[in-house]
Amino acid sequence: MVKVTLKDGVFWVGVVDWNIRDFHGYITRRGSSYNAYLIADEKTALVDTVKVAFCNELIEHVSEHVGLDKLDYIIVNHVEMDHSSSLPTIAKLAKNAKILSSVRGKEELIKHYGSEFERVETVKSGDTLKLGKKTLTFLEAPMLHWPDSMFTYLIEDKILMPNDAFGQHLASSGRFDDTVDQEVLMEEAVTYYANILTPFAPLIVRKIEEVVAMKLPIDMIAPSHGIIWRKDPMKIINAYMDWCTGKAVKQKAVIVFDTMWGSTDKMARAIGEGIASQGVEVKLLKLRATDNTDVVTEIVDAKVVLVGSPTLNNGMFPSLGQFLTYITGLKPRGKLWGFFGSYGWGGGAVKGMVKTAKEAGFDVMEQSIELKWVPTEEEMKKCFEFGLQIAQKIKA
Ligand code: FEO
Repeated sequence: MVKVTLKDGVFWVGVVDWNIRDFHGYITRRGSSYNAYLIADEKTALVDTVKVAFCNELIEHVSEHVGLDKLDYIIVNHVEMDHSSSLPTIAKLAKNAKILSSVRGKEELIKHYGSEFERVETVKSGDTLKLGKKTLTFLEAPMLHWPDSMFTYLIEDKILMPNDAFGQHLASSGRFDDTVDQEVLMEEAVTYYANILTPFAPLIVRKIEEVVAMKLPIDMIAPSHGIIWRKDPMKIINAYMDWCTGKAVKQKAVIVFDTMWGSTDKMARAIGEGIASQGVEVKLLKLRATDNTDVVTEIVDAKVVLVGSPTLNNGMFPSLGQFLTYITGLKPRGKLWGFFGSYGWGGGAVKGMVKTAKEAGFDVMEQSIELKWVPTEEEMKKCFEFGLQIAQKIKA
């Protein structure tokens, strides 16, 4: 492999997973990568490992720089298996290496891989590790992405290795932000944020503020998925602040729906036309034609989300149940939610969806629309009006 150098003595030794298309339910159309970094000084440290299916590739990449038996440290920033499932093999080969993780990381490593990980040494925020001329310091970052998560910062080279934070599921031949298409990069960065990190938005803001207050100069952000931010690391930090705080929200509505015989579809279109008639952007996403991964991404910069379902067996359509389970778990903040639907002889879908949304703490509009059988011309006008009122709320 051509060596990928971040700075003198700092190397990417990860792997590219070109063909993964389903990352625990998240549709990864552009693949991903599992990034690991090697820091070679008087002592050598490996930061994170990779998914076990790619363990041999990791071993090859590390061995191009140093024999595994010569590794002095293995840093585990995060225990989720896309980053740690090679560790049992690597730890056996790197028999002289000390393994470092957070306290929660050690607990999780033992639970995942057994008592051999009792030997893990724990670090906490502010601890440092001298490798020679280079020094690592650690910053605990619980829930970014798991309780164990931490960031590793290479002081002299000003490289932040934040594991999952600031990543993207993006397979590419280029390893740096200035070597890939910028539009694709930001599209994958927001999709990743929306589907992985949305529930932790307030924690992300606090962590970014903490890093800023520490006045850590950052030349590069080297996450555990996708490209390394070297040209403009502030681009992704600013984007995260905008997504997390709602600053990215614009005058936009998303209509998420499904349909049986076309009535809910007709309603969605009429509502959408009402919204668009006021110059407000609107997107209609039918659930059986759009994956939840993309729906959630569209919601990041929307002010209003309207959800429509036909009634099936006195309740909501199954695809809506799946969507609401996903979205109420992710809990995007600062959105206004509205509901609509159609039914035959007895309703139930709208009532069920409203209940689910309220129980999740969502801000639910008072007004909803539920229509019997096929909407009449008069009822279509009512839907248009509903959309028009929503557009006015958005503009207000
Ligand atoms: Fe990429 Fe939370 O693992």
